[in-house]
Amino acid sequence: MNVQNNLSQTKATKLSSDWWHGGVIYQIYPRSFQDSNGDGIGDLKGITERLGYIASLGVDAIWISPFFKSPMKDFGYDVSDYRDVDPMFGTLDDFRDLLDKAHAQGLKVMTDLVLSHTSDQHPWFSESRSSRENPKSDWFVWADPKPDGTPPNNWLSIFGGSAWQWDSRRLQYYLHNFLASQPDLNFHCTDVQDALLDVARFWLDMGVDGFRLDTINFYFHDKSLRDNPALPLDQRNASIAPAVNPYNHQDHLFSKSQPENIAFLERLRALTDEYEGRACLGEVGDAQRGLEIMGEYTTGDKRMHMCYAFEFLEKRALTASYAKQVFDQLEAKAGDAWPCWAFSNHDVQRHASRWNLDDAATRQYPVLMMCLRGSACLYQGEELGLGEADVPFEKLQDPYGIEFWPEYKGRDGCRTPMVWAAQDEQSGFSVAEPWLPVSAVQAENAVDRLETNPHSMLHHYRRAIALRHAHSALASGAQKEMAQNGPVLTFLREDAFEQIFCAFNLGGDLTNVELPDGKWRAIGRDLGSVEGASNVMLNASQFCLMVRDKG
Ligand code: BGC
Ligand code: MG
Repeated sequence: MNVQNNLSQTKATKLSSDWWHGGVIYQIYPRSFQDSNGDGIGDLKGITERLGYIASLGVDAIWISPFFKSPMKDFGYDVSDYRDVDPMFGTLDDFRDLLDKAHAQGLKVMTDLVLSHTSDQHPWFSESRSSRENPKSDWFVWADPKPDGTPPNNWLSIFGGSAWQWDSRRLQYYLHNFLASQPDLNFHCTDVQDALLDVARFWLDMGVDGFRLDTINFYFHDKSLRDNPALPLDQRNASIAPAVNPYNHQDHLFSKSQPENIAFLERLRALTDEYEGRACLGEVGDAQRGLEIMGEYTTGDKRMHMCYAFEFLEKRALTASYAKQVFDQLEAKAGDAWPCWAFSNHDVQRHASRWNLDDAATRQYPVLMMCLRGSACLYQGEELGLGEADVPFEKLQDPYGIEFWPEYKGRDGCRTPMVWAAQDEQSGFSVAEPWLPVSAVQAENAVDRLETNPHSMLHHYRRAIALRHAHSALASGAQKEMAQNGPVLTFLREDAFEQIFCAFNLGGDLTNVELPDGKWRAIGRDLGSVEGASNVMLNASQFCLMVRDKG
C-alpha cells in the first residue's frame, strides 16, 4: 500500500510541475471565438465568458493567438505594440482578469509572441526607416539594391513575391518573410534581442504560463545575404506553403534557420527559467529540415521546451507509414526532442476536410494524438468535428488567400466564428454580423447540440483527453517499437507505472494485428477501442488500446 501511495504521489508531482510535457493545449483564435461587445469580432471578455466550456474539455492550457495592438494586416501577427491589448480585443485589465479566471479553473495560459517581425506601424520601424543613422537604424534588415536596382538577393516572401520591399526614405530594401507590412527584425543586433526579451519578461511578470513563439526559425538571416539555392522539382514539398507558391522552389538555407539562433533561444529559455513552471513552444516552419530543427531546438533543457510541428498539418494524410517515417526521423535527429502535434490550426484547412475524414476517422485521430509521444494542440471547433467553412471570394479577409486564389483559398475557411448555439443569431458568436460569415454547415454541430448527446464528437474528444490524463505513460512515457503493418500503426508507450499497447488502422482494409504477449487490459472502450485475445482484426478507423501495470 505504501508503494502504491508513493507511486501516485510521484505521478501527481510530475504532472503539476511539467504541465506542458505531454499536456493538451487548446488554441483560441480570438477574433473568432466569442464576441462580447457586439462588434462582430471576438474579444478577451468573450474568451473569459467561455472558460468554463474550455475547462470542461479537460485540457491543460490555452494558447491565445495574438491580441496585441496591431493594424491587423495579418490579423494580429503584425504587432505594433507588444505590451498592450488591441482595443478591438479589450484592455490589459481584461487580460489580467482572463488570466486570473483561467488559473482559477486550473487552466494554464500561453500567449503568442511574434518576435520575428513587427508591424510596419511599430514605432521601432518608424524610427529605423527614418534615416540610415538613427539609433535603431539596424533594428531591421536593411540592404542596398543591386546596381540594377533589383533586390539584394533572391529570397522570397511566404505570402508572395520578393522578400524585399523598397523604402523610399532610406533608399534601401528591407526584409519581410511575410507581408511587406511585417518587416523582419534584425536579431544580429543585440539591442533587438534585449528589447524582445524585455517583452517576454513583461508577460512572464504578469503571470502567463508560457509562450507560443511564432516562426522561431525565422529569427536570424544569413548576415552576408547569400542567395538561396533552387530546390529540384522532386524535392519540393508543400508542407508549409501551398504547392502553387513559388516559395517551395527554394531551399531556404540562408533566409532562415541560422546557427546563431541557438544562442538566442538559450537566452529566452534562461529568462523563462527564472519563473516557475513556464513553457516555450516554438513554431518551426521548414519544409526540408523541420524535424531536424525541432531536434536541435528541443534537445536538452536549455532551449525550447517543445516545438510545434508542421508534419501532421500537411495535405498528405497521416497514414501509418507516414507516422512511422516522422517518428523514425525524429528519433534519428534527437531522441529527446519534444514535439507538439496539431492536426488543425488557424493557418491550414481543418483536417476533417483536408484528409476527407468520415465520422469514424474523425473520431480516431484525436485518440491517436492523445497516444502519440509529444504534447498536443487542439484548435477551436475541432472538438465539434468541424470541417472547413466555405468562404466566397467576396468575403475573403486573408491577404494570403486573396494573393493565391483560387488554387489556394487562404486561411479564412478555418477562421470562421465558433458555433455555440445552433438556433441563435450568428450561432451564438455575436449579435452583429461577424468579420467572417458563420458557416451554416458548421452550425449544425454547434456546442449546444453536441452537448446534449453523450455520443457526440464533443463528448468523444472529452473522453480522449481524459484518457491521456488517466495514463501517465501516454502523457509523458517513452514511445517504443513503432511499427507499420499495412494501414495499421502500432507502438508502445511506457513509464515507470504502466505499459500501453496502441494499434490504429488509419483508414485501410481489414487487418490482423498480433497483440504482444502478457496479461493486458483493454482500455478506451468508450472511445471505440476494440478488444482482442492474442490478435485483433481492425477495420478502417478501428483501434485497440491495452494496458498492463509494471510490477
Ligand atoms: C502564424 C501565421 C502568420 C505568420 C506570420 C505564422 O506561422 O501562425 O498565422 O501569418 O506566422 O506571423
Ligand atoms: Mg468584440
